[in-house]
Amino acid sequence: MCGIVGYIGNKQATEVLMNGLSKLEYRGYDSAGVAIINDEELNIRKYKGRLSVLSDNLSQNKIVGNIGIGHTRWATHGAPSDVNSHPHTNCQNDIAVIHNGIVENYMKIKKWLDEVSDVKYKSETDTEVIAHLIDYFYDGDLVEAVYKAVDKMEGAYAIGVVSKREPDKIIAVRKDSPLIVGIGESENFLASDIPALLKYTRDVYLIENDEFVILTKDNIKIYNEFKQEVNRDIFKVTWNEESAEKEGYEHFMIKEIYEQPKGTRETLDRRLDDDGDIYLDGIKLTKEDLDGINKVYIVACGTAYHAGLVGRTIIEKYAKVAVEVDIASEFRYRNPIIDDKTLFIAVSQSGETLDTLAALREAKKHGARVLSLVNVVGSSVARESDDVFYTWAGPEIAVASTKAFTTQLMAFNMIALHIGLTKGTLTKEEYKNLIEKLKELPDKIKQILDQYEDIQEIADSQFNNEKVFFMGRGVDVNIAKEGSLKLKEISYINSFAIAAGELKHGTIALIEEGTFVVALATQDRLYEKMLSNIKEVKARGANVLALAKENNREISKIADKVIYIPETLDELTPILSVVPLQLLSYYIAVARGCDVDKPRNLAKSVTVE
Ligand code: G6P
Repeated sequence: MCGIVGYIGNKQATEVLMNGLSKLEYRGYDSAGVAIINDEELNIRKYKGRLSVLSDNLSQNKIVGNIGIGHTRWATHGAPSDVNSHPHTNCQNDIAVIHNGIVENYMKIKKWLDEVSDVKYKSETDTEVIAHLIDYFYDGDLVEAVYKAVDKMEGAYAIGVVSKREPDKIIAVRKDSPLIVGIGESENFLASDIPALLKYTRDVYLIENDEFVILTKDNIKIYNEFKQEVNRDIFKVTWNEESAEKEGYEHFMIKEIYEQPKGTRETLDRRLDDDGDIYLDGIKLTKEDLDGINKVYIVACGTAYHAGLVGRTIIEKYAKVAVEVDIASEFRYRNPIIDDKTLFIAVSQSGETLDTLAALREAKKHGARVLSLVNVVGSSVARESDDVFYTWAGPEIAVASTKAFTTQLMAFNMIALHIGLTKGTLTKEEYKNLIEKLKELPDKIKQILDQYEDIQEIADSQFNNEKVFFMGRGVDVNIAKEGSLKLKEISYINSFAIAAGELKHGTIALIEEGTFVVALATQDRLYEKMLSNIKEVKARGANVLALAKENNREISKIADKVIYIPETLDELTPILSVVPLQLLSYYIAVARGCDVDKPRNLAKSVTVE
């Protein structure tokens, strides 16, 4: 899940590459580097640490040149270090390679190269073998050498290659890792993701699996694995550069938390037709298709998985079909029971998470109909799905996902209502009433955001805890899990989420004087039960922050603090109750001095297994 960029044109390449890398740092940020070609040589600079280390070096000691590639890394093979940073080169240092993904058979390739050549390795990375392979196969034609090198490689990757031997081109290849090409006038660009190019162009080509790209200053050629030239339509990016900027907020995360009323509203409003009914443009499932489906499988990773857990409750309730939810990395190795009567729903903000993509392919292999909920338009998950629901969250940059989650929940509600009405498990009246309830949610999120000072105060008094428990019942358990994940991701506090009914089966042993417990009690039918659970932990000395609907005020007599969420249906509370937990994590992380947008060891888009 590294970030790659490339530039060829009349501008100074360093400037374009550094701008692009700054927009891709969310993909990995433990080291960064560039390779720039000018008439005489191939210049490489690469350093361990944030991008600022590289940019300080480049501003003190400039590299001139109009062709180059750049990389920001999230280490997989070999610890973050200068030498393990990309670009990697061959022994003569005249071929440079950047790479996102993993070359799974790199040990085998190393062994083979040792037998057939005299390679000396400089780094511990899998990537370095690519440079040596290209060198080995080079016989006066760089493109041919890259073809041959790639033919030997297994795994998932997107690579960019430049060489002093043919200094007029950049070659790139995609296999299962995102890659796009930006189209300019007398200049062209390469990147892992759209934000890297927005300063320069909105016209892009989305590169498909197993495709090769040859970029020159005036030309872009795309070839398939059989070396046939491919014609690709231009993809026009509609969002602007500002939507990927902080706009005065201290961090992307808080900006994105505040964008949730807008994101959820857009996700809904853009799909309501003139009669106020849901119109799902990217979904072609007919009544006949839906009647033929006897099981839904929702598969995702991280926060998107938690959205899937909530999605299960909603789909089962409104569409009356059995739903299973699984973590993508587990699903793909589990021989799940799937056939052409299964609707497989992949949930992914980025649309590039490798495990989710692999799970989707596995499901397709077994005949499932694939529907995806994706935020990034044109991403791999979207492109490989039969039906797509694009959430309208806008670009999400902070590693900890927030607005993608609430828009995914909105999407699940809309899909469930659509299926329910089409199949006849919901009456038109119920359907209409539920849409009215959905419409109220964006304003209700806003009301919660307005309570930020209370939440900040709680965070300021609790930020020193080293363990925190989240508990709830029913759909609240899923939000407890998401709240706990948010907290551990960005504040590094050891947090843990449980179904409150399970407390007495083990976890209560960990509750002691002063333990901070966040108790979600937003479900009317489980409210009394939650009050009992809160009493149980209070009796063991816990300090309890409760979340409840605003009409349930007696909880304030038991809990130490209460955050109230506006009244809504039990099934719809997740869109609201997650918001105070996002704010709580954010303010705790800020109080602890953590790097909120770029937490240690994590990355936004996980394109490796
Ligand atoms: C990473 C991110 C998480 C995200 C997960 C799934 O772990 O840090 O925030 O939830 O990947 O990503 P996706 O893009 O598939 O939703």
